Amino acid sequence: MLYEYFAKPLLFRMDPERAHHLTIGGLRTASRIPGVLQAMRAAYGSPEAPELRQTIWGIDYPNPLGLAAGLDKNGEAAAAFSNLGFGFIEVGTVTPKAESGNEQPRLFRLPPDQALVNRMGFNNNGAEAMREFLAALRHRPVPIAVNIGKNKMTPNEQAVQDYRTCMRILYDVGDFFVVNISSPNTPDLRSLQHGEDLRGLLHGIMEERNRLAQQRGTEAKPVLVKLAPDLSQEQLAASVNIIREAGISGIIATNTTVSREGLKHPHGEQAGGLSGKPLKDKSTAIIRHVYCLTEGRIPIIGCGGVFSAADAYEKIRAGASLIELYTALIYQGPGLIKKIHKGLLECLKKDGLSHISEAVGKDA
Ligand code: FNR
Repeated sequence: MLYEYFAKPLLFRMDPERAHHLTIGGLRTASRIPGVLQAMRAAYGSPEAPELRQTIWGIDYPNPLGLAAGLDKNGEAAAAFSNLGFGFIEVGTVTPKAESGNEQPRLFRLPPDQALVNRMGFNNNGAEAMREFLAALRHRPVPIAVNIGKNKMTPNEQAVQDYRTCMRILYDVGDFFVVNISSPNTPDLRSLQHGEDLRGLLHGIMEERNRLAQQRGTEAKPVLVKLAPDLSQEQLAASVNIIREAGISGIIATNTTVSREGLKHPHGEQAGGLSGKPLKDKSTAIIRHVYCLTEGRIPIIGCGGVFSAADAYEKIRAGASLIELYTALIYQGPGLIKKIHKGLLECLKKDGLSHISEAVGKDA
């Protein structure tokens, strides 16, 4: 209500990027005021539901719905996002050095399509700045994933060093890590999804992860890979093979798409990655394919065009154990999170299931 009738009309009158910074800055500031985080939780959090609680990779998730990467690139509003009812949040993409990203304008709304096009690039304050934000968090009500990338000027042949640096700086403050090799807005990044480039990259990252865990004498933290929705079936099969061989813990499917099918709004002509409703079926198809390729052995986080409980449940039945969203939050606000929880419980009841994990992969 508050978002739909007050915040959204104001924010949608502004340039999208200005609205974004205002929201993130506002959340960051508000979360420092005593009592605000509790108030957020009271307003947007859902009652505990044992049917939705899961333990995956040894980490507890109070519910399967998470915040996707890119909304809080620096982790500066992590306290606020952790108290909105999400089951986990993902911050980043972060790069070793701070980066300004691509030239503005670089974020576009497509309201009739319930979509966004962005070519932000990895605009962020760098890994050290993120570490400070995350280390300063007093409470961590939900797990925090850190999405890592490479600086734009780092050639692909040296990319592994950037990912290793991010991992080293952020290892102690993230619960799990996501290797982003699927953003369409960093030149040539997506070619790291294939063949020897992928093999070498993942080998180096896992070596760093194992070294850090060994140094600390603790269990190694999970590392996931985030894939693009634009891979062909053959490319996907080859990449998933390499991902499995590398001992990666999970896959996020998917990032934004470069395809532009069936859009109504003229912003569809803007270059960049398309997110939101038009991405939904494409990302669900990838989830289903990855689930079949891995025989359900590698947990999947489904992401792309989730606007309702039905959308989330469809992805779960296709093979996702957890779900993320971004664009729907811009169009519908944080009230959506609670609605999805409630709707998921109804979906389970309708299917005669007693726990969300029983629905995973039912349609695959
Ligand atoms: C993104 N996304 C993204 N993903 C990522 O891995 N690193 C990033 O930095 C970003 N940045 C980013 C910025 C903006 C403005 C958008 C809209 C999206 C992709 C995002 O995490 C998600 O994969 C897609 O947006 C698909 O989900 P939705 O938005 O359809 O729910």
